Amino acid sequence: MYNCALILAAGEGKRMKSNTPKVLHKVCGKEMVNHVIDTLKSAGIEDINVIVGKSAEQVKEKTGDRNASYSLQDAQLGTAHAVKCALEFLKDKKGTVLIFTGDAPLITKDTVEKLVSYKDEEDYSGVIVTSIIENPFGYGRILRDRDGVKGIIEHKDCNKDELLINEINAGMYAFDIEDLVENIGKISNDNVQKEYYLTDIIKIFVKQNKKVGSLPVPFEETLGVNSPLELSKVEAIMRNRINTMHMINGVKIIDPVSTYIDVDVKIDSNTIIYPGNVLQGNTEIKEGTILYPNSRIENSIIGENVTVQCSVILDSTIGKNSTVGPYAYIRPQSVIGERTRIGDFVEIKKSVIGNGTKVSHLTYIGDAEVGQNCNFGCGTVVVNYDGKKKCKTIIGNNAFIGCNTNLVSPVEVKDNTYIAAGSTITEEVPEESLAIARARQVNIKGWVSKRKTK
Ligand code: UD1
Ligand code: MG
Repeated sequence: MYNCALILAAGEGKRMKSNTPKVLHKVCGKEMVNHVIDTLKSAGIEDINVIVGKSAEQVKEKTGDRNASYSLQDAQLGTAHAVKCALEFLKDKKGTVLIFTGDAPLITKDTVEKLVSYKDEEDYSGVIVTSIIENPFGYGRILRDRDGVKGIIEHKDCNKDELLINEINAGMYAFDIEDLVENIGKISNDNVQKEYYLTDIIKIFVKQNKKVGSLPVPFEETLGVNSPLELSKVEAIMRNRINTMHMINGVKIIDPVSTYIDVDVKIDSNTIIYPGNVLQGNTEIKEGTILYPNSRIENSIIGENVTVQCSVILDSTIGKNSTVGPYAYIRPQSVIGERTRIGDFVEIKKSVIGNGTKVSHLTYIGDAEVGQNCNFGCGTVVVNYDGKKKCKTIIGNNAFIGCNTNLVSPVEVKDNTYIAAGSTITEEVPEESLAIARARQVNIKGWVSKRKTK
């Protein structure tokens, strides 16, 4: 049977008090509406139409790589009006249309699949996703009699008895496309809010003796986001799901509550993650690696058997058997080799560091290519910026760079070289040589006592 989906995403989300359209707020590194699109796709629903409103352009841009189509709802006159705006998308289609909202990202693949198969098995005209909750305040309530679902009544339209109903409409549905298209225009806005309620379609179906069903799901999956507080609650649930999945896969997470892993991060088994780590974007952590507390790693690949502590690593690669930190800062486009040591208060920017090289303390390396098995003394600075432009430093293999060396770029240090501590290197250091670039020490004997007698 043919399936497609509508995602309602035209609301502005005023309560977010943010310039970002509501559905573009991220949960564990991915925009809410993209969570919904990806979940639908994982359940095999490919034909997806997103109903956009005032922030149409932004939403289109951020969902652009997901192959969805769009319908525009200029003014938000209610959920039925939103669906009407997608009639062009539904035209001439036969089968099932799922309707979800772009601000409820916790819905699972499993539930989407259940919803589809439940609707098909019993040949329903409509299936409503429902939950039983303790405090149903604000939600549409499910009206039933002995034969089943009779309708949905919005909170603001409930009478005293209806307010006591604790089975709520989650705002997610599966409809027969033809039945929906035929009847969507019959919905009026004759209610307290003067809105066109999609929920009114149920009463219309019942009147026409069409079959209506309900699919109960855990309330957690249906949680929507209207405010920063709700966003944080939804994020905590998503975070817990992600961490649980990694732990099932063999990642040892010491304290899941304080470990923040984005949805697209990949982590091998046999790894350990201590509290306070924030793993973002397309980061990959390879087998045997230990992340000691408090690092932020974004879009980076951390090789096998690496240890990282208290460091920031952005858009970079760390080779296997290396150590990073504490307090290292590895900036974008850096490629750190195998068996390297990047120690405390070391900043590396857009540089390549060869295998076996040690940069142990208090050093800045920017726009440089460094060979293998070099040793950087404490306090080395690559002077890569002359105030106008950035220049490159190239260092060969087996260079021993003394403490407090300045390497004024552009400059080259060849293989098998030594640089004396305190040197400011402005010219090439040839192979197999020692460079000393500092004033020679002069000791003036008796200088102190002479000064005193003056
Ligand atoms: C809706 C349901 C209610 C259900 C609740 C679950 C209706 C009439 N009521 O109420 O039964 O319990 O969801 O959360 O549907 N939207 C548009 N265009 C519009 C109006 C809304 O795109 O003109 C979008 C909103 O951005 C939002 C979603 O549709 O993502 C739901 O709309 P909202 O106004 O929040 O409906 P509720 O009052 O929450
Ligand atoms: Mg709502």
